[in-house]
Amino acid sequence: MGGCCSLIRRKKYEQSGSKFKVIDGRRFQILDDSNYTLPNDAGEEERLDIQHFVLKHAFNGNFSAPVDQLLRKGGARVLDVGCGSGIWTFELAKEYPKSHFVGIDLAPVNLKDEKLSNVEFIEYNVLDGLPFESNSFDYVFARALVAVYTRSQWTELAIPEYTRIIKPGGWLELMEWDTVLKGGAANVKRMNNALIGMCDQKDLIAAPGYEIQSFLEQSGHYTNIGYEQKPVPIGPKGEKYAEMAIRDWRDVWQGLKLIFSSVMQVSGEHYDAISEAAVGELIKSGVIWENMRAWGQKKDRIYTD
Ligand SMILES: C[S@@+](CC[C@H](N)C(=O)[O-])C[C@H]1O[C@@H](n2cnc3c(N)ncnc32)[C@H](O)[C@@H]1O
Repeated sequence: MGGCCSLIRRKKYEQSGSKFKVIDGRRFQILDDSNYTLPNDAGEEERLDIQHFVLKHAFNGNFSAPVDQLLRKGGARVLDVGCGSGIWTFELAKEYPKSHFVGIDLAPVNLKDEKLSNVEFIEYNVLDGLPFESNSFDYVFARALVAVYTRSQWTELAIPEYTRIIKPGGWLELMEWDTVLKGGAANVKRMNNALIGMCDQKDLIAAPGYEIQSFLEQSGHYTNIGYEQKPVPIGPKGEKYAEMAIRDWRDVWQGLKLIFSSVMQVSGEHYDAISEAAVGELIKSGVIWENMRAWGQKKDRIYTD
C-alpha cells in the first residue's frame, strides 16, 4: 500500500485496454452487460486492501469454511472470484505454499511485489460464466460481489457456475454484507438511501449477506452448511481498525459519487458536502456494518462438460 506500489499500479492502469474509461480522474468499467458502479483503479485497489484487513480482523481470519487441513496438505486448487486487488489470494498462497490459487477479475491485478509460483490471475468477465472445467476446484471463495451480480444472476448464474466447477466434496464460501449501515445519523441515512436507490435501479441485492446461506440451501447441492455474522463497528468503537473502516466507507462514497449524486438528484458539490458530513458522523458517533459468511460442501454430483 506504499507510495512506490501505488505509482507502479497507476502506470500499469494507464496502459490497460478499452474495458474501462476514465471519468473525473477515476477509472470505471464500460462493459455493456456490467452492473458494476465502483471504480477499478489504483485508489480502489488500496481501498480493497484496507477493507480486507478490517474484515480479516472482524472474522479473526481469512475464511470460515473448514479447509485449513485440505489447503495445508497440498495439491488443492482454490479460486477467488472477483479477486479485486488480489490480497486474499496472495495471503492464502503464501500461507499454503503446497496448494494452487487462482484469482479471477475483470480488472488486471497489479500487486506484483513478490512472485509466487502457486498463484495466477486471470482477467475475465464472470457474467460470461467461469472459464474453468467442471469439477476442477477444491475451494471457491467469493467476497463482496454485491455490485457484480443482479438478484437473478446470483441464483441463475453465480451459484450454478461455482457449483459446476467445484469438485464433489469441495467447498464454496460466500462473504457479503448489509450495505445499509445501522445506527447512523441524518447524512449516513442519506447515503444508505442512495445505496438502496442504486440497488433498486440496477436490480442488485442491497443486503446479500442475509441471503447467502439460503442461496446454498436452495441450490440443493450443498451439505455441511455453516454461517457466521459479525457486526463491524465503524467509528469510535472500531478500536485500532476504526480509522481504516472509516476510510473504507469514505472511499466507497467518493467512488460512487457519480451514481449517488444522480440518485439523490444533487450537484457534485452538494454531494461532496453530504458525504463529508456523513464521514463526520462516522467519526463522531459511529455505525455498525453487518458482515456475513456462508459456506457449504458440494454433494457428490458429477458434472460432465
Ligand atoms: C468490491 S470488489 C471485491 C474484491 C475482492 N473480492 C475483495 O473482497 O477484496 C468487486 C470486484 O469485482 C470485480 N468485478 C466487477 N464486475 C466484474 C465482472 N463482470 N467480471 C469479473 N470481475 C468483476 C471488480 O473489478 C472488483 O475487483
